[in-house]
Amino acid sequence: MYDNEMKLEFLSKSSNEAFARITVAAFASQLDPTIEELADIKTAVSEAVTNCIIHGYEEMEGIIKIKARIIKNTVEIEISDTGKGIENVELARKPLYTTKANLERSGMGFTIMESFMDDVQIDSVLGLGTKVFMRKKIKKHIVELAEEEFASIGGVS
Ligand SMILES: Nc1ncnc2c1ncn2[C@@H]1O[C@H](COP(=O)(O)OP(=O)(O)OP(=O)(O)O)[C@@H](O)[C@H]1O
Ligand SMILES: [Mg+2]
Repeated sequence: MYDNEMKLEFLSKSSNEAFARITVAAFASQLDPTIEELADIKTAVSEAVTNCIIHGYEEMEGIIKIKARIIKNTVEIEISDTGKGIENVELARKPLYTTKANLERSGMGFTIMESFMDDVQIDSVLGLGTKVFMRKKIKKHIVELAEEEFASIGGVS
């Protein structure tokens, strides 16, 4: 079972990208992440949401859904669209692979998500949509670890 959960639904407008990344970051902040961990989450969310807008729905407008969960010290984020879907997921994950080179895309979105998060899974069905699942464990701060150790040897923390 999870400890906390939130759901978000918004239109696929690029003006909503910042809203999405800030909202997920605010939700994740209850795990007391470092600035760096929070920046990683924001960047990964931003890449996934941008993909829904640019590739999933292209010029059309659609709904993007985000579900985020907290399980112990891990945050799980699911970002989905019901747009055009990905023909070959394995290929799409490869660094520098893009179907929109003409729009100055660099093909690094999935690579960035993979490097900033602990786990990235992509489910996509052509014509039906795409779901990106990401997970990141928030490390305990040194102070917390020291407090736990202190408590375990009989100290009061
Ligand atoms: N939500 C999506 N719906 C449909 N196709 C997608 C979706 N997300 C990614 N893709 C496909 O996967 C490819 C790779 O995505 P990735 O984010 O790695 O690169 P990019 O978006 O092309 O470039 P960049 O992210 O560097 O701007 C895209 O070019 C697109 O073909
Ligand atoms: Mg991208």
